[in-house]
Amino acid sequence: MIPQAAKIGDAKLLVDGKSYDLPLLEGTEKERAIDISRLRDQSGLITLDYGFKNTGSCQSAITFLDGEQGILRYRGYPVEELAEKSRFVEVAYLLVHGKLPNVRENDRFSQLLTQHSMLHEDMAQFFKNYPENAHPMAILSAMVVSLSAFYPELSQDQQNPDEDIDITTTRLLSKLRTIAAFSYKKSAGEPFVYPRHDLKYCANFLNMMFSSPVSPYEPHPVLVKALNVLLILHADHEQNCSTSAVRLVGSAKVNLYAAVAAGICALWGPLHGGANQEVMEMLQSIHDHGGDVEKVIAQAKDKNSGFRLMGFGHRVYKTYDPRAKIAKQLCDAVLNKLGINDPLLDIAKKLEEHALKDDYFISRKLYPNVDFYTGLTYRAMGVPTNMFTVLFAIGRLPGWIAQWYELHNDPAQKIGRPRQIYTGVNQQKFVPMAERA
Ligand code: CMC
Repeated sequence: MIPQAAKIGDAKLLVDGKSYDLPLLEGTEKERAIDISRLRDQSGLITLDYGFKNTGSCQSAITFLDGEQGILRYRGYPVEELAEKSRFVEVAYLLVHGKLPNVRENDRFSQLLTQHSMLHEDMAQFFKNYPENAHPMAILSAMVVSLSAFYPELSQDQQNPDEDIDITTTRLLSKLRTIAAFSYKKSAGEPFVYPRHDLKYCANFLNMMFSSPVSPYEPHPVLVKALNVLLILHADHEQNCSTSAVRLVGSAKVNLYAAVAAGICALWGPLHGGANQEVMEMLQSIHDHGGDVEKVIAQAKDKNSGFRLMGFGHRVYKTYDPRAKIAKQLCDAVLNKLGINDPLLDIAKKLEEHALKDDYFISRKLYPNVDFYTGLTYRAMGVPTNMFTVLFAIGRLPGWIAQWYELHNDPAQKIGRPRQIYTGVNQQKFVPMAERA
């Protein structure tokens, strides 16, 4: 059972001279909402809210986000502190279980991750039939839904629900990492590298990505730490587009794999997780065309251009995205430590500087979001651009799983089924084909 918001009074809605009382709710961070769930029964009215800008779809105890103040907390812990002091796997446990693991719980979780890291060999065959240039997100989503055929869901163990959750979570976390690395190897035309039992989550991923039978690879500790941080930054973000997709699809009671596959597809979009690939392509293109930042800013402001400054703006953040702040510092630190001088970082900083001084961006409160600086660190790791969103998906997975569990443990949840305002033609008479004009 998730904690429920307190009812602190009623809001009044006046329509056609008639007044309706609607419950006024308040969450633990004093966020207030009008509960309209009975509005249609009471009045015949529905609400209209394109893009769900003002619509809460659930009550949730997982992530708190204050877009005005730039606050992001997972289960009450500031993302800054988690990024600095913990590892991705620990954060995954936190999101799913609601508490940080102790040593014994962490050991058990890590052991399960190791145990579940392999893919069924029949599944490994699937990769062979994708075209060389297949986007890894297409492969990832298809492979994740295929997992349901190979690893059916556990029936809920009433005796030991935590063990059940751990097995389900680690199986998906571990296998997604293997699938991601295999999809890269497939696109590179190289043989798969299997997971190693002696490596931790992030080092294991880097090893599967970059080692090969002819060139052994030692994951650099700076990159291992950086990957941990980046995955933590993406681990959850309350009711964003992909998480809402997971919840909406999950509300029909499909299995977890199918719901997560839906989340992966939503994440792929350039307005969402796909923006990190777009940012890198944009920076590269600015570089290749002489580095004219002003021209790009002007283009982003021109509504007729169809172009947006990728990695800028956010539905919820109306100040600097706290994840972008960490990602920017991380990028600087990683490039410094590795002695890399990336001209695209200079272009990114120049773009930010110009945008943040420009009235268009100031008045609309458009700041760099998480996708603006993360790609430059992935690039320093050697990750190709089309794998960036895959890394976002690996990072977001614990959030999707936690939200899926929360959905299924919330007795108030119903199948997701919005309404609409019909604006089509009224009833008309059917005319047989021969008589039609
Ligand atoms: N470049 C230029 N103008 C922008 C941008 C941008 N990146 N983002 C928003 N605007 C303008 C937009 O044209 C609109 O102007 P006006 O009020 O004159 O019509 C105003 O700002 C509000 O934009 P919106 O599209 O109504 O805002 P939204 O909340 O629906 O969209 C967004 C949020 C993230 C989709 C949008 O800011 C965007 O397209 N950004 C670029 C893509 C991007 O970086 N996405 C990653 C988001 S963070 C990772 C994640 O969690 O998904």
